[in-house]
Amino acid sequence: MKGILIVGSLNMDFVVRVEHLPQRGQTVPGAEFKTLPGGKGANQACAVGRLSRDQTVRMVGCVGADASGEQLRASLRAANVDVAFVRTVTAAATGVALITVEQSGQNQIVVAAGANECLQPAEVIAAIDAAAASHLLLQLESPLETVAAAARHARACGRQVILDPAPARPLDAALLADVDILTPNESEALALLGLTGSDISLDEAPNIARALLAPGPRRVILKLGEKGVWLADETCSRHFAAPRVDAVDVTAAGDCFNGALAAALAEGQTLTEAIHFATTAATLAVTKPGAQDSIPTRPEVEAMLQARSAQSVEVENA
Ligand code: RIB
Repeated sequence: MKGILIVGSLNMDFVVRVEHLPQRGQTVPGAEFKTLPGGKGANQACAVGRLSRDQTVRMVGCVGADASGEQLRASLRAANVDVAFVRTVTAAATGVALITVEQSGQNQIVVAAGANECLQPAEVIAAIDAAAASHLLLQLESPLETVAAAARHARACGRQVILDPAPARPLDAALLADVDILTPNESEALALLGLTGSDISLDEAPNIARALLAPGPRRVILKLGEKGVWLADETCSRHFAAPRVDAVDVTAAGDCFNGALAAALAEGQTLTEAIHFATTAATLAVTKPGAQDSIPTRPEVEAMLQARSAQSVEVENA
């Protein structure tokens, strides 16, 4: 089996930059406004397409019969993603995300799912069978029934299932048991454990990651933003640092991580190598504005990886 299948959302992002994110009830002036291709599923597909060496990358999802749907398809095609499984529906418009990004690079996102709600279990199962891909990427901007059916079928067929539980939603243990790698960010991890908050310290990370293994995922990679990631599985509990950069826009950094991780694993990199590759790609993504626009190319990621390993050699020799 070869190739990577991404099942999920395609959204047109309406992005405004502001100095500070507004408080509840507050109106704040915005700077530039941009319409950019996004959606957690499509962003992950774009990352796989841009970062893979020789994988077939296919996206499964729904768009409306409108100009946004065509633009989203075009953006994926330009990133080497096959969009034959992206269906046009007439019942709803293409999904939309309203995104506000403040000067620190942090954002707020509101999504109107639109056509993404039309994605059916049967079409996803048919795509999994037709694509025969080694890895399946899932997120939670599609109907939960469809996500669960995709994970169940892919796992039964021996595919690797990588679930990004974003945005946070309550999940059945049965779905989590079909997952090979679960990749929550801080607030998603806490929500899955029935807790509130959006910050996990490096001291707390091992226990949180271990608690997330209990319902059944084989591995947890806890995404901790600038603190890097924490990997936990039956035999390992380990921190991976992220390179330090000035963040411009964190939108889609997590999506970039998942796409890069899948691209690296599918070409045979070890899990350790794949996590270094993915943290580097995600770090580069926060240095540029936009979702798909911010996803780096393979040469950019490799150049930063080389610089990182040269730095660690210098530190060791110092
Ligand atoms: O993860 C970032 C994405 O979340 C944006 O592109 C937006 O469309 C929402 O889905």
